[in-house]
Amino acid sequence: MSDSFLIDNIGSLVTNDPALGEGILGLVEDAALVVEDGLVTWAGPRSRIPEGAARERFDAGGRAVVPGFVDSHAHLVFAGDRTREFEARMSGRPYTAGGIRTTVAATRAATDDELRANVRRLVAEALRSGTTTVECKSGYGLTVEDEARSLRLAGERTDEVTYLGAHVVPPEYAEKPDAYVDLVRGEMLDACAPHARWIDVFCDRGAFDGDQTRAILAAGKERGLVPRVHAGQLGPGPGVAIAVELGAASADHVTHLSDADVEALASSETVATLLPGAEFSTRSPYPDARRLLDAGATVALAADCNPGSSYTTNIPFCIALAVRDMNMTPAEAVWAATMGGARALRRTDVGRLSPGARADVVLLDAPSPVHLSYRPGVPLVAQVWQNGTPRLP
Ligand code: NIG
Ligand code: FE
Repeated sequence: MSDSFLIDNIGSLVTNDPALGEGILGLVEDAALVVEDGLVTWAGPRSRIPEGAARERFDAGGRAVVPGFVDSHAHLVFAGDRTREFEARMSGRPYTAGGIRTTVAATRAATDDELRANVRRLVAEALRSGTTTVECKSGYGLTVEDEARSLRLAGERTDEVTYLGAHVVPPEYAEKPDAYVDLVRGEMLDACAPHARWIDVFCDRGAFDGDQTRAILAAGKERGLVPRVHAGQLGPGPGVAIAVELGAASADHVTHLSDADVEALASSETVATLLPGAEFSTRSPYPDARRLLDAGATVALAADCNPGSSYTTNIPFCIALAVRDMNMTPAEAVWAATMGGARALRRTDVGRLSPGARADVVLLDAPSPVHLSYRPGVPLVAQVWQNGTPRLP
């Protein structure tokens, strides 16, 4: 007999399927959800629950249910932290790409088990705030061996693994950056491609320029990796144009955008992934989400967890920032952190709660998904099911 259960008495259910409910969130009030063998098999109003739908019944007590958050941008394979750098920044020092090198030194010196424990800790932390799918990049190894090891360790926790050998030029290549680019698109790519689905480049001031970015992403594409790009975080640049030109799944940060960039994103499949945790923690101006949304671009929200620019795994916090400081509506922000993240990872099985989706379900201690931004900083996640299995005690 199949393993099935009914989540009943849901006050407000986000399906992200406009055919099932109201607005972009496909919101159903007084709803229920049927899960079978780890998949959603039915979602809708309680008045229409199919007969004999499930063996077990869970009473949501009138609370809200949303899809598990899909965090499409994270750097979890690292050692140490950068508390001092954060403190200095909060006393007025600006954020620069060079800080990455501090974490590179600590990461190279760490054992596999230390790095493994860090990834596990952060994935568990993210789960507690409702994240059920998380992408994970390399980028703090920056040698052939350390990048391949970072990807292998990331792959123990997620399928969404991204090769980011082009995070910054490591100190030993400071005088010969082009030789480092050749390594990243040559021997390092050979060692890393088997362990990754995606390839990313930090295209920005103090990191990699347009020509370097294009060369690295093109080499990755030849090896079957799909590009995603860190673009326009620290200043304007060619990152977005290159992302769209190469068919990248997403352009991330996109804080500094030209009109042509906005137009390019709006008329392409490349998702604009906004990372407000980075602007918060670097005390920088937020990206203009309204400009992107009003132009018709697909917008995702992600936490960008990393020890430098955004040391948070908390998607509800990012939703609250997006609503309060980036003028997104509460519904747009919830969509961006669920369906938007799924689009950025080219996934159709997550980010929604409609038939056929993976049963990644978040129960909130709140009557409505609006509370994710209305009650900032409050831990509202009461239960998380991943593939239909309850994950919180
Ligand atoms: O996405 N921008 C580049 N990478 C990270 C920051 C990495 C770091 O500072 O260690 C980011 O913000
Ligand atoms: Fe990043």
